Amino acid sequence: MALDAVDEGEILNLAVAPSGRRSGLGRALVQQMLEVLAGRGVQQVFLEVRESNAPARALYTAQGFKEVGRRKQYYRRPVEDAIVLRLDA
Ligand SMILES: CC(C)(COP(=O)(O)OP(=O)(O)OC[C@H]1O[C@@H](n2cnc3c(N)ncnc32)[C@H](O)[C@@H]1OP(=O)(O)O)[C@@H](O)C(=O)NCCC(=O)NCCS
Repeated sequence: MALDAVDEGEILNLAVAPSGRRSGLGRALVQQMLEVLAGRGVQQVFLEVRESNAPARALYTAQGFKEVGRRKQYYRRPVEDAIVLRLDA
């Protein structure tokens, strides 16, 4: 799921069923969301990811997202920092 306002977009949620992981679906979903956002004039896309979420961080890094910030104790159950990532069009 993604949101956009003027020239900024945000990827809110992304998940692939465990049995379908590591076959390119996550990458395809991200690319599709980026295409939709670009078509709406979005220049910068932001998202937050749990610091410990290595699979998601690897996926986003491979798509060109860069780390631009940290939100302390952003998540609950368990409490954990969020890493803020940004992709420039
Ligand atoms: C993150 C998630 C969406 C990835 O989906 P996926 O379909 O498995 O990802 P893909 O197969 O498209 O992987 C694309 C690239 O991401 C990276 N990646 C994905 N899973 C990885 C893992 N477990 N370990 C390391 N790198 C991983 C790799 O670079 C991979 O490319 P490769 O397979 O050619 O090496 C999936 O693990 C998931 O649903 N996780 C739970 C929900 C979640 O964390 N969502 C993100 C919240 S911000």
